[in-house]
Amino acid sequence: MPQRSKWLSAAAIGFLLAWFAKVPSAPADPAQVAPSKESGGEVVAEDDDANPEMQGLFATAIPLLPLAMDQEAWSSPEQRIAIGSGLDQLAQASAALGQHAVTRDLGFRNLSDSLAEDIERTRNHYAEGAFEESRASMVEIANTCAACHSRLSGRSDTRRPPLPDGLLEGLSLHEQSQVWVATRRFDKAMAVWEAALADEMQAPGQLDIEGYLLDYMTIGLRVLQEPARVRSTFAGFSQRPDMPIYLQRHLARWAIALDAIEAEQPPADPLVRARELAGARGVPQPDLLGREQTVYDLAASSLLLGFIDDNRASPEELSEAYYLLGVVEARSVDSYWLPQAESHLEAAIRLAPGSASAASAYALLEEYVVVGFGGADGDALPDAAFGKLQELEVLIEKSRAPGSPPGAGPPAD
Ligand code: HEC
Repeated sequence: MPQRSKWLSAAAIGFLLAWFAKVPSAPADPAQVAPSKESGGEVVAEDDDANPEMQGLFATAIPLLPLAMDQEAWSSPEQRIAIGSGLDQLAQASAALGQHAVTRDLGFRNLSDSLAEDIERTRNHYAEGAFEESRASMVEIANTCAACHSRLSGRSDTRRPPLPDGLLEGLSLHEQSQVWVATRRFDKAMAVWEAALADEMQAPGQLDIEGYLLDYMTIGLRVLQEPARVRSTFAGFSQRPDMPIYLQRHLARWAIALDAIEAEQPPADPLVRARELAGARGVPQPDLLGREQTVYDLAASSLLLGFIDDNRASPEELSEAYYLLGVVEARSVDSYWLPQAESHLEAAIRLAPGSASAASAYALLEEYVVVGFGGADGDALPDAAFGKLQELEVLIEKSRAPGSPPGAGPPAD
């Protein structure tokens, strides 16, 4: 990719490191978090909830990410010491996150484990001199950061100045938005998507295929919680003359749903409301459930992730929450950053194997995994996936009350 190599010349790397050196990595002193010029006049938020694990990840991942976006720089002997020790530090930062994760919910722990695995794989490939594999794996690390950051509501992290825009020139839209979400500059990511949707050179159907509409809705609805902004962007987008008919129809449905979501008050019981939304009850309904349901599915997933994050519910309630999350994700909102429907369905089974949710989660997981691997032929399944399904089936079987007929699921009461 000659274009990228030119983009990240040695001078640019030097600039990046100099920029990075100015960034307060642990602004414990309030004076350090005063609004800075680098932030382009934006008001820099108070550092009310400094998070040492995340600051460690940020400080160690940021210098590596742009190097990983550049094939030549990543395999260059001159960078070997910097990249090698950078990866060691990143692994330490992720181990610190792992220690913190034990106090968090299962979904959070799974993502923290995925991050540790990604980093381990990246280091191994790099140590073996498999530069292209390790580079691709480093880029995937940003996906895991983004997947975790897109779970809960939050604001853009404006404490630090954003990476200079010029450094992301030459990256694909997906890579740009991924870096912005990985570094929690949701404002920058939204701007990238909004520009793409307005760009006549980008075909609307292609933007959809590449997942930008879903990414935009995920951050706009689940993280920033701004349905009005999404609605107004889509209103402009739907006017484009090159709009395919199927997408025109989805957009019309989504506009109605966005209106309805905007009028929603925070529910007294998020699990009950999420159950209704996932079943399209109490909301203006399309005739068939599918991608038309994306907005409600995102709203449901947002309530469910908040409910799970609270970490106070009973195992049965949590099992239902993970099951519903698996349903909406498998149906319409599985993340392009890191698909998680499978791990959510597995969590639903492990949390309360005897529950009705576990039985339903198993059926969906089996379909998702088997069909996902190209058909009902069990032989085509990799051993690990097949073994996992069997293990979960045994878990459910064992928790079933003695004497109840096979396939009956949990006791009816
Ligand atoms: C397992 C979930 C998870 C993963 C993985 C994750 N983050 Fe985070 N991150 C969060 C959460 C949640 C917050 C919001 C702050 C909080 O709630 O503590 C956050 C906040 C941040 C912040 C804001 C700084 C602060 O002090 O609050 C930065 C920067 C950040 N993350 C960078 C990263 C980078 C870079 C990666 C990947 C190398 C990453 N994170 C991976 C969950 C995650």
